[in-house]
Amino acid sequence: MVQLYSTTINLSPTVRDNVSTLLNQRVGLFTDLFVQTKLAHWNVRGPHFIAYHELFDSIASHLLNAQDMMAERAATLGGSAGMTVQDVSEKSTLPAWPMTIRQDTQIIRLLQERLGQVANEIRHDIEKAAEWGDADTADLFTEVSRQLDKDLWFIEAHLDV
Ligand SMILES: [Fe+2]
Repeated sequence: MVQLYSTTINLSPTVRDNVSTLLNQRVGLFTDLFVQTKLAHWNVRGPHFIAYHELFDSIASHLLNAQDMMAERAATLGGSAGMTVQDVSEKSTLPAWPMTIRQDTQIIRLLQERLGQVANEIRHDIEKAAEWGDADTADLFTEVSRQLDKDLWFIEAHLDV
């Protein structure tokens, strides 16, 4: 555990430590997902290039916003905030982005898998934070989860005919 700063917030040090550790894991995961979404944004090719290119950038901006909220919640609770890229590389649960793939529908499927995985992990985190008695972090995860689900809808709507 990195040093936990004291605060007037009346959650126990154990809860604050558990929650900030979880938040930082997610901050790291979102670093990976953000980079992968940017790789999709830069490399996608196909007849609907501009629509995909812009959609992926919009999703990437949502990920950065969510990441910032989670890191700042960790700092708010007295924890350290964020993760080094070396730790992101070691700890991310996402598969590596295959740089050889550029075709639009294949890129959409790669993003579906990754966004879907993270959306489901964050949904689980809502319950964890609530069980630990931190309603505010549960609410933050809920907000992040709702946006991820919506972004996943935007991705998956391209797959159904
Ligand atoms: Fe761009």
